[in-house]
Amino acid sequence: MERTLAIVKPDGVSRGLIGDVIKRIEGRGLKIVAAKMLHMNRAQAEGFYAVHRERPFFGDLTAFMSSGPAVAMVLAGENAIARWRELMGATDYRKAAEGTIRREFATDIEKNVVHGSDAPDTAAFEIGYFFNRFEIVA
Ligand code: CMP
Repeated sequence: MERTLAIVKPDGVSRGLIGDVIKRIEGRGLKIVAAKMLHMNRAQAEGFYAVHRERPFFGDLTAFMSSGPAVAMVLAGENAIARWRELMGATDYRKAAEGTIRREFATDIEKNVVHGSDAPDTAAFEIGYFFNRFEIVA
């Protein structure tokens, strides 16, 4: 059993895509074991994306991620990290496979509707960033 962090980003929330994203997660057999809506401030978004702080898009990305509410979830299942990444599609929606969330809904490489952890160590950091152990069901 593996855990990963999923986020419906501010563009996904404002466009009314929370239900669609959750339907795909559950339809794929991944279990939602924690969920909350939150509006990050700039510093919180910078902390979450600290691995990207040297990248040219860091300023825009953290402004966008703190621009409105987002929904953070912990997903659990066998190979949850890879399965959630498969459902999302590639970061660049133009390269994302047909039928993926980003291919269908993203409008921009930054406003790409959803986020997912890319490896077990980043998943552990990202889950701990938003949830304590009492907020994650067994
Ligand atoms: P995410 O999976 O949340 O991880 C980093 C985010 O940075 C990415 O999705 C995009 O929203 C954003 N981003 C903006 N520009 C780029 C880029 N050129 N390459 C990768 N990520 C980018």
